Amino acid sequence: MSKSQAAPFTTASAAVRSGIPAVDRYLESGYATVPGMSSRFAAAICCGLLRMQTEIGVVGPVAEIGPFEGRFFIALAHALAPSEMALGIDLFDWPNTQVIDRFEANCVKHGLAPGRRITWKADSRTMAPAELLAKLEGRRVRFFHIDGEHSRAALTKDLELATAVLAPEGVIVLDDMLHPGYPMLMVAVHAYLQRHPEMCVLCIIDRETVVAATKFVLCRQEWFKRYEARLLEAYKDNVWPLGADFEPHWCLVLSLDTRLAKIV
Ligand SMILES: C[S@@+](CC[C@H](N)C(=O)[O-])C[C@H]1O[C@@H](n2cnc3c(N)ncnc32)[C@H](O)[C@@H]1O
Repeated sequence: MSKSQAAPFTTASAAVRSGIPAVDRYLESGYATVPGMSSRFAAAICCGLLRMQTEIGVVGPVAEIGPFEGRFFIALAHALAPSEMALGIDLFDWPNTQVIDRFEANCVKHGLAPGRRITWKADSRTMAPAELLAKLEGRRVRFFHIDGEHSRAALTKDLELATAVLAPEGVIVLDDMLHPGYPMLMVAVHAYLQRHPEMCVLCIIDRETVVAATKFVLCRQEWFKRYEARLLEAYKDNVWPLGADFEPHWCLVLSLDTRLAKIV
């Protein structure tokens, strides 16, 4: 991995909120201080989506493959009810073996007590869905963030794992989509969508910088309209007008830059 660890965020992203006070406080004063690679813009929208799930009665844990030092993980966990758990799965060996201590320290520093999270030092490539569900006492995942190894084979495996443990109303979020450094990830996503016609892309969250890159949000087809309507209402100022074409499915593009090219 060649990403730098401190992502500078644009001032525009500071205006985007999740609508959950604990999350928004962390985004305001903690997020940029935790080393990591997810954008603040994406964190606000993803936690906004968790808020929408809670509002319509969707409950359950969140899981992340690749929490690293905890930047995005802490935001997700702050969006949960006290009885819901956040599961972080990581090899915790990069860039050194002390990364797990930094992850734990960051969680504590930013208000995430041990009882609200499960730290799992493990390899997602060899993990069976039953093992993951056992960690969560059988509870299916309502929000799964995949940000582990960025190869086509690993993403393919991680997508199948996430799909197998997902709640019916659950969403899967993929990091580093359309990134110039990882072009083959798109091949894995398109092959996955062919294998899983029940799944679709709910929205694309545009990148903030090359380090804090684009995320795709996936959900089951039957949940698309419900989530899309709520995202459109909550983030109308960030809707890029033309949307994204997945042939024949179209989805929302949320961006900090909603301009179109001038043609006359
Ligand atoms: C790009 S970092 C994640 C950044 C973090 N999600 C954020 O938003 O700040 C990728 C992480 O994936 C982990 N990882 C890579 N391959 C993995 C695997 N096979 N199983 C579990 N974790 C893995 C790495 O150890 C690293 O911490």
